[in-house]
Amino acid sequence: MSVFAAAGAGLLCAGRLCAVRAVLPCLWRGKYFSSGNEPAENNPVTPMLRHLMYKIKSTGPITVAEYMKEVLTNPAKGYYVNRDMLGEKGDFITSPEISQIFGELLGIWFISEWIATGKNAAFQLVELGPGRGTLLGDILRVFSQLASVLKNCDISIHLVEVSQKLSEIQALTLTEEKVLLERNAGSPVYMKGVTKSGIPISWYRDLQDVPKEYSFYLAHEFFDVLPVHKFQKTPHGWREVLIDIDPQVSDKLRFVLAPCATPAEAFIQCDETRDHVEVCPDAGVIIQELSQRISLTGGAALIADYGHDGTKTDTFRGFCGHRLHDVLIAPGTADLTADVDFSYLRRTSQGKVASLGPVKQQTFLRNMGIDVRLKVLLDKSDEPSLRQQLLQGYDMLMNPTKMGERFNFFALIPHQRLHGRNHQMNACQSKPSPSPVAGFGELAWR
Ligand SMILES: C[S@@+](CC[C@H](N)C(=O)[O-])C[C@H]1O[C@@H](n2cnc3c(N)ncnc32)[C@H](O)[C@@H]1O
Repeated sequence: MSVFAAAGAGLLCAGRLCAVRAVLPCLWRGKYFSSGNEPAENNPVTPMLRHLMYKIKSTGPITVAEYMKEVLTNPAKGYYVNRDMLGEKGDFITSPEISQIFGELLGIWFISEWIATGKNAAFQLVELGPGRGTLLGDILRVFSQLASVLKNCDISIHLVEVSQKLSEIQALTLTEEKVLLERNAGSPVYMKGVTKSGIPISWYRDLQDVPKEYSFYLAHEFFDVLPVHKFQKTPHGWREVLIDIDPQVSDKLRFVLAPCATPAEAFIQCDETRDHVEVCPDAGVIIQELSQRISLTGGAALIADYGHDGTKTDTFRGFCGHRLHDVLIAPGTADLTADVDFSYLRRTSQGKVASLGPVKQQTFLRNMGIDVRLKVLLDKSDEPSLRQQLLQGYDMLMNPTKMGERFNFFALIPHQRLHGRNHQMNACQSKPSPSPVAGFGELAWR
């Protein structure tokens, strides 16, 4: 275990106890649901439903992946594009919105990896799908608290975000200013600013556009919103699940099976034993890009999400107002999600980089020193409501029946990282010993 990570949670001073964050009765998205049983009268005709019915009438039933993509990220009507869906007043809650400790420990993870790989003179921190910017805000507070460790390191922040509304909220959280849209239509950077602690920050719509420099990548509850194709095993072979208009009920959608093979079947493993699978080609494209970048320039990617290791079947579900929601009802008003298949992420990294995990959130956070950090914060806090909130947040993150076992951590690192050799090592940098990667091995106090 890296000495820094082992000590990190204790090194952080109590610092600012952040404003009370939401816990109960908010719903996290690791819950399951089966769809299709909602009574028709609860099915308002949303602009998105009208758009989809028009599309299906024109070109025929659509794949679940196309449905998810349209519903979530259609530039005009997509669920993610124009609203803030996170937190008590939204549709669901995520770990960083529950407890500041979550982001603080991830901040320590990045510094620990930066140290373990030879303290590069500069790094980019790239976050995919940053939500409200809460997680990054907690990470940057750790960077400020540990400025003496990071001194002389040239850090920049790069956010990949498709939502205009959320990018505005991220800008307010991280820069405390309203950041204007960039006017240069030729530039892939659509917003640019400086964080409260003086770090340059840029916004992009696509990972491809982020400069290919030495980087640490973070994706928390990002891969689960990428579109999945769903397949059912039948006596005639795999058949894709499609979405069609229900002929029995007006303005209602229903699932049907494709009459013949469809192209996305190529993503199913030849030796697949399950009878229903979900495949996510977009996740594969992003993992290949991350693997390529990390193998060329170094750095690491930390991916945290709920998911499985190639074992689950039907996990497609919806959330609205902290309740499970039928995925086909009132599209555009509810979040859609499917569990991440970590075995597929590992396969698509194609050996270019080493992968670690998935390990359960409970294990990862314990290895990162969550118990020590909780104690420091509890010792410093006299206010009963804050103490209660810290304990409730800890329980939500760690309890195996809540987020502790359903959420997983997975990392991509250069092969050299496991053998003690570094990218871009120069004469001034000493060769570090190949310490185990923090969070993925047991915490060892020295
Ligand atoms: C479930 S939220 C998670 C937010 C945040 N990471 C958290 O844990 O609180 C998903 C995030 O990914 C963004 N997003 C969804 N699809 C995206 C895409 N294709 N490209 C970039 N960002 C996307 C959403 O706008 C949102 O910020």
